Amino acid sequence: VAGLNRRRTAVLISGRGSNLAALIDACRDAAFPASIELVISNKADASGLAVAAQAGIATQVIDHRGRSREDFEADLDAALRGASVDLVCLAGFMRLLTPGFVTPWYGRLINIHPSLLPAFRGIRVHEQALAAGVRISGCTVHFVRPAVDDGPIIAQAAVPVAADDTPETLAARILQAEHLVYPQALRWVASGQARIDGERVAIDRVTAPAGMLVSP
Ligand code: GAR
Repeated sequence: VAGLNRRRTAVLISGRGSNLAALIDACRDAAFPASIELVISNKADASGLAVAAQAGIATQVIDHRGRSREDFEADLDAALRGASVDLVCLAGFMRLLTPGFVTPWYGRLINIHPSLLPAFRGIRVHEQALAAGVRISGCTVHFVRPAVDDGPIIAQAAVPVAADDTPETLAARILQAEHLVYPQALRWVASGQARIDGERVAIDRVTAPAGMLVSP
């Protein structure tokens, strides 16, 4: 679309990259308000790197091992600035980020987490949900704040939890929802429709979905 100014976006991964693939797919639409310019992994063997390369996107590995967090994050920040990126999506990026990195990216750094935050932060998220006996779980896309899995919520999607779910079956059901909700959330952030107001997100020109999800 002529004149459309796509926001230059980087995606940070540590593994498989299925959310990365969903974001890449969304960006294939020339009218999508973001373009993925760079994919960075902290792990050289992340299979998501091949997903990016296949799509012709520049990739970079920045290893976190054997040095301080500050050092690692300085390299990360330099790579992002070097690529003139102005939005960053964490997509299965499994490193905690310190305030020193996060603060300069306030409002431009988003994450997806496989639970309905603020429930079940951290790791072993699906184990936590099953142990709690919740009937509904889901995923959350949020702006990143220094606290773990904290920050203004942009979008969430809910899925039922089945009586016979294992962490794996629940993770797979939630992952399907992630692939829908992450591109939608990035669209709203990149287009400027999502605004942080206090510590809540207001989204312009979106009507709330009707109805409810009941489970079981
Ligand atoms: C996704 O389920 C994502 O929500 C989760 O890791 C998976 C990555 O899958 N992220 C976290 O747990 C972050 N704390 P992917 O590499 O196929 O996108």
